[in-house]
Amino acid sequence: MDKLVINGGKSLFGSIEINGAKNAAVAILPAAIMASKNTCSIDNIPNIEDVHCLERILTSLGCKLKINKNSVEIDSTCIDNLNANTEDVRKMRASYYLIGALLGRFKKARVELPGGCPIGVRPIDQHIKGFEALGAQVEIKHGSVVISADRLIGTNIFFDVVSVGATINVMLAASLAEGVTTLENVAKEPHIVDVANFLNSMGASIKGAGTDIIRITGVKELKGCSYSVIPDQIEAGTYMIAAAACGGEVVLQNIIPKHLESISAKLIEMGAEIKEDGDSITIKSSGKLKGVNIKTQPYPGFPTDVQQPMSALLTVSSGRSIINESIWESRFKHVDELKKMGANIKVEGRTAIIDGVKNLSGAVVKATDLRAGAAMVIAGLIAEGATEVLSIEHIDRGYPNIEDKFKALGADIKRVSYSK
Ligand code: EPZ
Repeated sequence: MDKLVINGGKSLFGSIEINGAKNAAVAILPAAIMASKNTCSIDNIPNIEDVHCLERILTSLGCKLKINKNSVEIDSTCIDNLNANTEDVRKMRASYYLIGALLGRFKKARVELPGGCPIGVRPIDQHIKGFEALGAQVEIKHGSVVISADRLIGTNIFFDVVSVGATINVMLAASLAEGVTTLENVAKEPHIVDVANFLNSMGASIKGAGTDIIRITGVKELKGCSYSVIPDQIEAGTYMIAAAACGGEVVLQNIIPKHLESISAKLIEMGAEIKEDGDSITIKSSGKLKGVNIKTQPYPGFPTDVQQPMSALLTVSSGRSIINESIWESRFKHVDELKKMGANIKVEGRTAIIDGVKNLSGAVVKATDLRAGAAMVIAGLIAEGATEVLSIEHIDRGYPNIEDKFKALGADIKRVSYSK
C-alpha cells in the first residue's frame, strides 16, 4: 500500500505537461469497440488506473490491444464476448459506456452496473430512457444491465437532467441507429466534443456537440482511425489551484485555455495572475489570496470535479467563502479531513461555508475519493509540517505521476510504501 508524504510550505516554480483527459479517454476507449473494421490508434492517453482498468475490460471482451505508455492500438474486429462482468467493470463508472457502444454495434449487451467515486446517488435512468427511445429493451437483472434491440431507430430525446454520461452513452448507440437522432438538453463538457470528434473520425455523422442540441445521423458501420485525446481540464485546474495556493510561478503546457476559463476567472478574482499563451498557461501567485463564492455547474460553469481542490485553497484564503455544490449531493467528504489540518468549514446540505485560517497544519489524512485526494495533496503542500495522505489509490485513478509533477515544481513530496 502507498501513501504520499508531504512537507508543506514550499512555493512552486517551473513548468509541467498536462496529460490527456481522463473523462474523455474513459469514453473513447469503449467507443473504440464500435469499429467493425481496422484498428483504432489512440494517443495522449493518460497513464492512470481507470484507463488500465478499461484496457483490461476491453481485452476481456476479445479486443486485441497494443498498449504503450500514452497510446493504445485497439483491434475490436474480434470481439466475441458481449457480457462485461469482471471486477473492473463493477469498480469504475465509465464501464457504463460499454452499454451504448455494444448496443450500437451488436444490438445487445450485458454489462454489470458501474461503481465509481462515492459522491452521491448516481442513477442511470437518463441513459436507459435514451436507449429505450431508440428502441432497445432494457432490464436490470442480477446487478447487470441487460439490453437488446431488433433495430435501433433514430428519434428525438430530451434529457430531464444535463448528464455527461447519458449524453455520451446515447450518442454512442445513436451513431449506429437508423435515421436521425436529436438529443436535447445535453451536456457540453469538452470531453463530449472530444468523443463526438472521435466518433466522426470513425465515420459517424454527429453535429452540434458542445451546444445544447446534438444531431446524429446514423451510419451503417464505424471503422478504426487515429486520434489524439484532448488535454485534461480537471488535471490542469488542479495544478492551477495548487500553484495559486502555494505561491510561485507555474507554467502548464499542453492545455486548452478556453476549457479553463471558469477556473481562471475565479483565481483572478482571488488575486492570482493568469497569462494564456497558445497551448500553455502561467499562474503567478503570492499565495495570499482572498476568498470567493463558488457554485458548481455543468460546463461552461465551474466544474464540480475542481470543487474539492478549490476548497483546499479556500481554507487559507482571507475572509468567508461559500461553495454551493449543485451537481453531487455528497461531495464534501474531504471536509472532515481538511478540518483535521485546522480548516474552519461548516457544511449545511450542499453548501460549505469556509472561513479562511492563517495556515493549515500537517496531519495524517485520507483521500476519500479521487478529487478529495487531490484536495488533500494541495492541503498538504500548503500546510506547515508533515502531511501523510492515505488511500491514494483513489488519486492514482485520475492523476498520472502526481508526486513527480509536484516534485518537478519544487514540492517536497514522496510516495512511500507501507503495510497496514
Ligand atoms: C461525469 O460523471 C464524470 N465522470 C464525473 O467526474 C463528473 O463529476 C460528472 O460527469 C459531472 O461533470 C466521468 O466522466 C467518468 P452526470 P457522470 O451523468 O457522467 C444526475 C471525476 O471526478 N443524473 O453528468 O456520472 C446525477 O445524479 C468524476 O472525474 C441523473 O439524475 O455524471 C448528477 O446529479 C466524478 N440521471 C447529474 O445528473 C442519470 O441518468 C450529473 O451527472 C445520470 C445523471
